[in-house]
Amino acid sequence: MKQEIHFVTGKGGVGKSVIAAALALKKSREGKKVLLVELGDQSFYKDFFDLPDIGFKPTEIRKNLSIALWTGEACLQEYARHLIKVDSLAKLFFENAVMRAFINVAPGLPELAILGKVTSGPRQHGPALPFDVLVVDAFATGHFIALLEAPKGMAQAVQFGPMGEQSRSIDACLRNQDLSKYHVVTLPEELPVKEATELLQRLKAEFSIEANLVVNKMVQTSISEAELKSTQNENSDLGKFAEYLEHQITHQKEMWDKTQEKATSMKAIPLFFETDAWTLTEKVGDSL
Ligand SMILES: Nc1ncnc2c1ncn2[C@@H]1O[C@H](COP(=O)(O)OP(=O)(O)O)[C@@H](O)[C@H]1O
Ligand SMILES: [Mg+2]
Repeated sequence: MKQEIHFVTGKGGVGKSVIAAALALKKSREGKKVLLVELGDQSFYKDFFDLPDIGFKPTEIRKNLSIALWTGEACLQEYARHLIKVDSLAKLFFENAVMRAFINVAPGLPELAILGKVTSGPRQHGPALPFDVLVVDAFATGHFIALLEAPKGMAQAVQFGPMGEQSRSIDACLRNQDLSKYHVVTLPEELPVKEATELLQRLKAEFSIEANLVVNKMVQTSISEAELKSTQNENSDLGKFAEYLEHQITHQKEMWDKTQEKATSMKAIPLFFETDAWTLTEKVGDSL
């Protein structure tokens, strides 16, 4: 099956989860069968969208849109069950305390298990994952690099046998730009922009990956610059607010220009004054 895999990363708090959900929603509305994947053991979307329990198995939350929550350990367990076939044997293997401890400390193993599952469709390896599009609400910057490095690291450590082979095929999928797409989210502010552009450079240098930069929460207003200026002359709270807004717009323009030199593809997402999670996600999706 021809699949598309999207990874969404960036500094904590910049809007990764909202952008990932918006992208997933947008693709599902185009008629594609989409799986939105959360990494870790806590679901953000459960509270955000007020959903019933989200777990390892995909839950359909809208037409064509499902959500799943994956940990490295759960991915590895499922994979072992798939390979070993005999459930009781797999259980014995994983319920062993020494084995569990090993899995969680073996360098890169949980990360490898997650990426093995994420890329299982195109590699036609492992349990079926019947979706056209996977959108991964991935780890923040540093941990994201560690995630991507895991297959290469494992392939170098274990050069021969099935483990080496799988690691190399996962790594190849991650670098295949027709298949895997990367979105680095930032705010139009100094520190997030610095972190985002450094990440873009690392992705390019270490993995030959050209990521898209998503500049989130751009203040947009239909009030003209002249209007903002004239309001500022009034010595009132509104005047102060107009001053703040104008400063904000000038600053984010500077940030945008600065970033433009370092990114090949950029998208601006407006700051929406929207309290309903689905409406916000739809609006963000429409701007993507
Ligand atoms: N474009 C936007 N306009 C308005 N609010 C946004 C926008 N993007 C994100 N938010 C809000 O910002 C907060 C942080 O977003 P979130 O996706 O949880 O960030 P992250 O996953 O990077 O930690 C959330 O409360 C979310 O609703
Ligand atoms: Mg998040």
